[in-house]
Amino acid sequence: MSTPRSAGRSHAPVAATARGSFTSGFGVLAATLGSAVGLGNIWKFPSLTGANGGAGFLLVYLLATLLIGLPLMVAEISIGRQARANPITALRQLAPAGQPWWLLGVAGMLAAFLILSFYSEVVAWVFAYVAKALGGQLLSSDPAVTQAAFEALIGDPVSALLWQWGVLGFIGAILLLGVAKGIEALTKKLMPLLFLLLLLLCAYSLTLPGAAQALAFLFLPEWHKISAPVVLTAMGLAFFKLSIGMGTMLTYGSYFGAQQNIPATAARVMAADLCVSLLAGMAIFPAVFSFGFAPSAGPSLVFITIPAVFAQMPAGQVLMAAFFVLTAIAATGAMLSLMEVPVATLHERWGLSRARATLLTLLALVVPGAGCALSQSTLAHFKPGGRSLFDWADFLSSNLLLPAGGIGIALFVGWAWGAQALRAALRGEGPPSHARLAGPIAWLLRWVTPPLILLVMLGGLGVFG
Ligand code: PHE
Repeated sequence: MSTPRSAGRSHAPVAATARGSFTSGFGVLAATLGSAVGLGNIWKFPSLTGANGGAGFLLVYLLATLLIGLPLMVAEISIGRQARANPITALRQLAPAGQPWWLLGVAGMLAAFLILSFYSEVVAWVFAYVAKALGGQLLSSDPAVTQAAFEALIGDPVSALLWQWGVLGFIGAILLLGVAKGIEALTKKLMPLLFLLLLLLCAYSLTLPGAAQALAFLFLPEWHKISAPVVLTAMGLAFFKLSIGMGTMLTYGSYFGAQQNIPATAARVMAADLCVSLLAGMAIFPAVFSFGFAPSAGPSLVFITIPAVFAQMPAGQVLMAAFFVLTAIAATGAMLSLMEVPVATLHERWGLSRARATLLTLLALVVPGAGCALSQSTLAHFKPGGRSLFDWADFLSSNLLLPAGGIGIALFVGWAWGAQALRAALRGEGPPSHARLAGPIAWLLRWVTPPLILLVMLGGLGVFG
């Protein structure tokens, strides 16, 4: 083992094998895609698109992904690969002497905990649904029945907590296996399966009577529904989807091979992630319209409509169990990447073993996690400022912390690190063509990204009235 404490200070890159890394090009792609694809696609994307008016929202989301998300993703991965360290150490190492850019890494850790607190609870519902689906309990084509089943689940404080702890323990166990044997091995096997099942589901859903209405809803924009808060939500979703603004991509970048083409990988991950979201949308909305649900139902959409769709299908029970298993898997890849941020940081910076770092992270999640888990039961009436703790964690992370982290990363690369350093980092040990986009990306990050994010944030928070 390397000596974790000194690794970050030295300027010689730590040998990739000394601190664990992804072992193949496909492994890098699968793990990175595994981080991007998650509940964001299957739970957040459809419910936010539904609640914010469909196609117009989708278009703003696409723009935010391309203009803001992609350059930031490339920047984060490059920083990580160049420093081969966790976010705090990496920023400390690459920043000009005396400049406190490492604080961005600290903010990222906070964001990771906040997201994990509510994310783990939604994953808990997914795991509970797997169990229920296998037991045949959810299968009903009557929306009222599936709705009652969902409300019973989230309204029970004991099961909410137990499922959450189960999920957290499960993710912790995979992380203990390490970067290559845990994260990479699992995501490589499971991502292709997820695509296959979503395709199947989508094909079936498009034969339902509400399909035409659903496609119009998803693809024909109603411009009047786009307001400043909607734009902020769309941008927040772009950050959340691509796992940027908090150090996840930076940490994964530190496991990238030196010859990996970073912009190409980021673009592929973005495109594949978008496909998963669209497939999920096309699987869910036809059912929503066919069975008379409101597309704006919000977070419960997936848990109520999906069982109703499966109830109509031949072998619905098996397929539904498979669907929730795969959702659980998608969410697992994302949670692994969220937890890897504090685990890698505690391990490298403070010299804890990976096992201790994982345990400490899990312990630190118990209280904030419970705050979110109990938001639909014991704490249902505790809504400071009109939002439950669950909604606060979700809102603050996506709409405030991730965009603010994005501004920080853009400023760091655009002003402190510079185009030259970005070029060297993008090239790594690959051909010069890998660094072709360094100039335009550094320019965007210097001049466009920070004011654009700031404008969207301030507008969405109502600062301009
Ligand atoms: N991208 C993940 C999803 O869509 C969530 C995530 C956010 C993961 C931030 C890591 C960091 O579900």
